[in-house]
Amino acid sequence: MSTKFQAVRGTKDILPADASQFQYLEAVALSLFSRFGFEEIRTPTFESLELFQRAMGSTTDVVQKEMYVFEDRGERKLALRPEGTAGVVRAFIEHHLSQTHPFCKLFYIGPMFRAERPQAGRYREFWQIGAEYFGNAAPTADAEVLVMLRTLYQVLGIKDAKLKINSLGCSTCRPTYTKALIDFLNSQRSELDEDCQKRVDTNPLRALDCKVDGPRLEAKAPDIARFWDAECKDHFETVKALLTSAGVVYERSSRLVRGLDYYSRTVFELSSSVLGAQNALAAGGRYDRLVKEMGGPDIPALGFALGVERTLQALAAVRPQAPEVEGPVFVAAMGDQPAAEAFKLLTLLRLSPELAKAGVRVEGGFFEKKLGAQLGMADRLKSKLCIILGEDEVKNGKVTLKNLGAGSQESILNAELIPRLLNRS
Ligand code: HAM
Repeated sequence: MSTKFQAVRGTKDILPADASQFQYLEAVALSLFSRFGFEEIRTPTFESLELFQRAMGSTTDVVQKEMYVFEDRGERKLALRPEGTAGVVRAFIEHHLSQTHPFCKLFYIGPMFRAERPQAGRYREFWQIGAEYFGNAAPTADAEVLVMLRTLYQVLGIKDAKLKINSLGCSTCRPTYTKALIDFLNSQRSELDEDCQKRVDTNPLRALDCKVDGPRLEAKAPDIARFWDAECKDHFETVKALLTSAGVVYERSSRLVRGLDYYSRTVFELSSSVLGAQNALAAGGRYDRLVKEMGGPDIPALGFALGVERTLQALAAVRPQAPEVEGPVFVAAMGDQPAAEAFKLLTLLRLSPELAKAGVRVEGGFFEKKLGAQLGMADRLKSKLCIILGEDEVKNGKVTLKNLGAGSQESILNAELIPRLLNRS
């Protein structure tokens, strides 16, 4: 019995039509990010398991339930990366980038892996485009990153993207808040769903994030804003003022706590109403203590990552697929010797700088087929012009150029071919 292979649950193929939208998103992000001074970094898709446990917090859902963990042949415990920040922080420390850069701005594009329950907009392998900014503790850095993220979605035309921000305070003021929150959650314990009850003990802030109880708790739970110390309050007020001065519309949400442990102070999320339940397009925040905690220098940092699949889904609602492009010029041949000449011509045309500049693509190489079948292929590719080589053409140093639309054809000298293709009508 033959096995029918399919993409593994939670993974998907990016077919050529979607790949062109992906390339467009990548190109817009790359151009924008480089104008903001970000340079690309590429880190491995797997790292030591401990790196993620230390960076993301061992009680977070991602680390506890969603990582692809495996042992290699040397019995090293490894994990496929569930996100990009941990690896970038490791690389920043390992390569001493703080010594060569007064500040360091990095971006990345790559696949991430989380063993979540797949649903619309939630995959087990998904792509992120992320940015990390090391070495600037000032609120201007928060505002700069948010202006960049916001601009990206504006350039893409995703106008309904809604920005929510909050501040999680710092290691000085947050513990007092956490204590008040735990007291409050304990007073509500009997009304909480099972998952939320567990969160009270493991990661109380995440109880606010709970899909079931979160909205109800928000109104009654203590607001972290009451617990910020003077510096945290100042920082957040300045970020908000800078955003307003840059024309960035935002909403403060006391419920926005984020699912990873490394955040401090500013956190944010961008969501879109065109997505379903998984409506977060992008998210991030400040993580001022992480670099030091991971064994590096005491350097503040912040960043974000956007979900490529979700962004492409929102993009599809506002940007139609790329318009159909003209098919390639098709090269056909009849007979063995003409086939050899046709192959040389095919290569020559593909490598021609003038044709490349004019965006002319050239296809062919099916010379063992009958001429009718080759023309049929050209037709399916939506080619307008077909170059035909037979024995007579080779003998006379000419080619036949067939206009597939009009059905007409002409005989032209080899030397005239490229100028003629550049002037094709
Ligand atoms: P995150 O919120 O876990 O943050 O993920 C960022 C974005 O990745 C989400 O907003 C969503 O668009 C997308 N995403 C997450 N999980 C999935 C999934 N299973 N399927 C499809 N898309 C998904 C981080 O990963 C942080 N590293 C962001 C960051 C960078 N913070 C500071 N620097």
